[in-house]
Amino acid sequence: MSEPTTAEEIARYVVARAVWAPSVHNTQPWRFTADGGPRISLHADADRRLAVADPDGREMMISCGAALFTVRLALRVLGYIPETTVLPDPARPALVAQVSWRDRAAADEFERRLSAHVLTRRTHRGAFDPEPLPPDTLAALRAAAGREGAALRIVADDGRRAALAAAVQTAEHELSHDGERLRELARWTPAPGSACRDGVPATSYPARAERTQPYFPGRDFARGHGWGMPPLSPATSHRAAGVAGLLTTNADHPADWVNAGQALQRILLTAGTCGAAVALHSQPLELPLLREFIRTQLSDGACPHLVLRIGLVTQVAVSVRRDPDDVLFPIGGDRAGPG
Ligand SMILES: Cc1cc2nc3c(=O)[nH]c(=O)nc-3n(C[C@H](O)[C@H](O)[C@H](O)COP(=O)(O)O)c2cc1C
Repeated sequence: MSEPTTAEEIARYVVARAVWAPSVHNTQPWRFTADGGPRISLHADADRRLAVADPDGREMMISCGAALFTVRLALRVLGYIPETTVLPDPARPALVAQVSWRDRAAADEFERRLSAHVLTRRTHRGAFDPEPLPPDTLAALRAAAGREGAALRIVADDGRRAALAAAVQTAEHELSHDGERLRELARWTPAPGSACRDGVPATSYPARAERTQPYFPGRDFARGHGWGMPPLSPATSHRAAGVAGLLTTNADHPADWVNAGQALQRILLTAGTCGAAVALHSQPLELPLLREFIRTQLSDGACPHLVLRIGLVTQVAVSVRRDPDDVLFPIGGDRAGPG
């Protein structure tokens, strides 16, 4: 494909990459509008918010933030300097950001390396190989979070790591006994072979949980149906939980959630450049008491958004996305409404 040059081509190009951002349950809660000029708007799609698990829209805004970082990176790789305004209009809280491009500067080598992982990055689910991360990986990931106004706090101490794992276990137990939440999860967990372009497909999670010490249980996407991928490694091989961390921001407003999402995508892509994979757990952050426990006991009072586990592993997960044409609208022709 030739390099996009018109504003319309550039908008299509950046949206085709942004849709590959991570989002909670792969809800892809975003829409983009373009008016033919050098500007694109990113809107949260509240119809795709998890009404039960995410009543405030925090996870929705984190997901949109991850898409926003991807838009900025795509523009950089085209040689533009993106100008971004987050939540530009208080009267339109669903208008997450406006990004315009005018001035040019060639992308640097690192931006190109980050961008190379946008389409291939996958959320890891399960255990990691026992080998340690390459040196400097954690420093690079912490710096990535800091650049986007968030923090990655590594939970290295054995006792605190065990407490974090216990919070994930408690949350997973509660969520799997809550009928309303299970019904909501069912909406986003299609059966194998489904033609759905959103939700968490059975090709993206293991059929059987791999126990680690400590144990960070994954979400029960299969809900007892036996769906999921067979294990790659023999049950006897040693498997590790990986390095545990918390993605946090100092405050807890929608702009902080967007920053957390931008930081998340920068972290995930940076991990890719280091050859590392990342598993995400938001179960305990969806339950107010556990979120408060993590905030006060494990993140020094900073607001926690996600538990991350980082490690080395051969990834086989396959995910899905909606077509860019289903989420990019000309201004006036969109369904984004006044938000
Ligand atoms: C805010 C947020 C919360 C998430 N929580 C979890 C989680 O608890 N468990 C999980 O396995 N994945 C979680 N994910 C990852 C998404 O499920 C994943 O991004 C989505 O299914 C798309 O797959 P991909 O990342 O492999 O492209 C989360 C992602 C975001 C942005």
